[in-house]
Amino acid sequence: MNRKEFLVKTCTACIAAAGMSSLLSSCLSTHYISGALGKDGLTISKNDFKVGQKDNAAYRSFIIVRNDALQYPICVYRFGDEQYSSLWMNCTHQGTELNAAGDFLQCPAHGSEFNNKGRVKSGPADKELRTFPVVISNDELFIDLRKQS
Ligand code: FES
Repeated sequence: MNRKEFLVKTCTACIAAAGMSSLLSSCLSTHYISGALGKDGLTISKNDFKVGQKDNAAYRSFIIVRNDALQYPICVYRFGDEQYSSLWMNCTHQGTELNAAGDFLQCPAHGSEFNNKGRVKSGPADKELRTFPVVISNDELFIDLRKQS
């Protein structure tokens, strides 16, 4: 391999890596929706998790439902087509709104962390997050705000 061939090959690899990196970061960016608020809860679509087209569909691991009628957002994690968790993003330590950081939630105030089922990973918080039942009906998810799961 001569110098020119080497440069062409390595530059092509770098450009491909940069493209993949930006594609990956766009897939991983947080997706916010407002959902449809009813008397007893929120309705969102399974398609809200979908990224890409039919044949190359991928799914976000979580989305955040931020609705003006709610004091805190709700983070909905997808574990599979029929398995979800929905977590009230209100830190159980002193009530700060949590940030989603991939498969866990983190408190910007004092650093508590909660896993994607709402259990405490690290304190100072010592209580689980409030969670809501998710009822699946066809392509819709109903987050029941009347009760905790
Ligand atoms: S308010 Fe969240 S850790 Fe203190």
